[in-house]
Amino acid sequence: MDHFSLIDGAMHCEGVPLSVIAEQVGTPVYIYSTAMFERHARAFRDGMAAAGNVHLAYAIKANPNLAVLRLLAKAGYGADVVSGGELARALAAGIPAADVVFSGVGKTEGELSTALDVGLGQFNLELEEEGVVLAGLAAAKGMIADAVLRVNPDVDAGTHAKISTGKAENKFGVPIDQAPAIFARLAALPGLAMRGVAIHIGSQLNDLAPLEAAYTRVGELIAEIRGMGLPVDRVDLGGGLGVPYRAGEVFPSPAELGAMVARVTRAWGVRLMFEPGRVIAGNAGVLLTKVIWVKPGVTNPYVIVDAAMNDLARPALYDAWHDFAAVRPTGARMTANIAGPVCESGDTFAMGRDIDAVARGDLAVFRTAGAYGATMASTYNSRALVPEVLVDGDRFAVVADRILPETILAAERIPDWLKA
Ligand code: LLP
Repeated sequence: MDHFSLIDGAMHCEGVPLSVIAEQVGTPVYIYSTAMFERHARAFRDGMAAAGNVHLAYAIKANPNLAVLRLLAKAGYGADVVSGGELARALAAGIPAADVVFSGVGKTEGELSTALDVGLGQFNLELEEEGVVLAGLAAAKGMIADAVLRVNPDVDAGTHAKISTGKAENKFGVPIDQAPAIFARLAALPGLAMRGVAIHIGSQLNDLAPLEAAYTRVGELIAEIRGMGLPVDRVDLGGGLGVPYRAGEVFPSPAELGAMVARVTRAWGVRLMFEPGRVIAGNAGVLLTKVIWVKPGVTNPYVIVDAAMNDLARPALYDAWHDFAAVRPTGARMTANIAGPVCESGDTFAMGRDIDAVARGDLAVFRTAGAYGATMASTYNSRALVPEVLVDGDRFAVVADRILPETILAAERIPDWLKA
């Protein structure tokens, strides 16, 4: 069941009318459904159960809101973090450090050191030198860091170029053919316990075949590493499962992914780990916006809404589609372009789209905005940083304030020499 649906002709999130949130919090605003987060978390866990002993590390980057992390922690999820900031969030949300894995191609020495100090569960190493530095830091602290080596399998994930990560030319991981030698050299260092390998080939994947190809290569790699007399007891299979953004799109389900994983990894004898992000958060959120003007255009009218590319960057960055729906649809339709107030033509959410007819002052939502939405927001054009609301049944709470332009301005200053 979709928890963003019409009740008596007006869109609700669970039991709360979106118009009430608009009145009390203003627009634009991100709205998340607790029930949908919980359902997706459960569906992914159930799907992976076929693959045996798994550790689920929610990819915080998809939606790092503290309240969201808390509810996923309660659902038994650990975290995949990619910065010291994300690590701090995971801990603040009550996720045990031991359940956190640290990914990311540019971890600084400071971040590695802090992660050791808090007792991080696993470092996903992106290059040999990172392992050498980590081993040195850990040894100096009298610690042993658990680590896995991220490999680049050179597989085309078949997704948008900007979110593909497993091709040889991408910046991520070590080339899989060099992995055994690098693994062996790192395994010999004091301060480091090399536990296995990690992989993540891209995001918004709509086909299991590239994942299966990549996992199969990982299986061969495990055999090769073990053949060198080195143990492998963990494999991190990353995230990447896509979600439908347009009505009618069909994606592989967590259960289908789990069945494939079970088949491919049956003989591995390791603890599997997953880093799902979008599949947990994507459809659990919408961006609520208000129509400022309907402006006549050459071919179609422009619906100018109060959300912009700084609030939801995905259409401008990846040509992404987000369904647009009126909060109080009349049944009438219109063909329109949908754009925000930011002063560039890239601030356009859709061109020539068939949508619910809307007029000045109407409320509408961009759907499937729970992942890579608020977290990618900026203050471009000196706009506020968009707030976030979490709904649970009939209640809701503002879980991130609107950061006003005044607050951002207050952090800037004119140096003395320019004051005169
Ligand atoms: N693990 C690693 C190492 C990753 O790099 C990512 C995503 C994930 C897990 C989670 O992937 P997911 O399950 O969400 O597909 N901003 C882009 C997506 C960037 C994804 C980056 N890495 C977008 O809005 O489409």
